[in-house]
Amino acid sequence: MAIFGKDEAVKPEKTAVLDPALLPRHVAIIMDGNGRWAKKRGMPRSFGHKAGVEALREIIRHSDHLGIEALTIYAFSTENWKRSAEEVGALMGLLLEYFTKELDELHREGVCIRILGDIDDMPKGLERQQAALYAAMEKTKENTGLKLNIALNYGGQQEIVRAAKKLAAMAAEGTIKPEDIDAGAFAAQLYTAGLPEVDFMIRTSGEMRLSNFLLYQMAYAEFYQTDLLWPDFDREAYEEALAAYQKRNRRFGGV
Ligand code: IPE
Ligand code: IPE
Ligand code: MG
Repeated sequence: MAIFGKDEAVKPEKTAVLDPALLPRHVAIIMDGNGRWAKKRGMPRSFGHKAGVEALREIIRHSDHLGIEALTIYAFSTENWKRSAEEVGALMGLLLEYFTKELDELHREGVCIRILGDIDDMPKGLERQQAALYAAMEKTKENTGLKLNIALNYGGQQEIVRAAKKLAAMAAEGTIKPEDIDAGAFAAQLYTAGLPEVDFMIRTSGEMRLSNFLLYQMAYAEFYQTDLLWPDFDREAYEEALAAYQKRNRRFGGV
């Protein structure tokens, strides 16, 4: 495992002991490495995405079980449309399948689903997916359990520009004064409005970049990366990551 802080060089015990009082309120995950996972097995990339959904199911369940307040997962970026029609089709198929199969259970568990990203601006032919996303948000909107945010057709830069446009329109129509635009007013126009700032960001597969994820919200997030490919990221790996988080010394610019 490649790691950031020297305090993490000692691998924690197999079952990490987590202090419930020191859990991050908001965890964000870049689920990366599905394609490489499939390639290693001589299988098409879609096989990796399917396995990735299984891993996701376990991580959502475990987040809920641990009492994490908010979990934001990167499912599809605004740049992922560049992939082949075959791969995008497989991903969109899995998305629909996921929401069809899992929604009732998530709802029973009290999970509140929010989609981060531009649902309306998706290519033609994805109307069923769009309807399923709106239905999932509507059905779970009063739930008070885990806040599950799914970043889909999401780009951090696009989100910031969108917020700036909204504020400019509000200023033009006189509902906000330009001098009243502060960080709070700005955050209120983001998809993540009302959620706590991201405390902890996990990226699998060894890549060390943000790939346009939650650029505004991660100002003081702690980063963690593991060489595990996303389909291999299980409960134990998650606990290991959370244990590493609990050893971090967050200073927020102080001493
Ligand atoms: C992450 O895995 C899933 C999505 C981006 C949708 P990748 O598909 O990026 O897998 P690699 O990085 O090519 O291995
Ligand atoms: C980021 O992964 C997007 C998701 C996990 C959905 P990518 O695989 O698309 O990122 P890059 O291209 O390696 O930066
Ligand atoms: Mg990738």
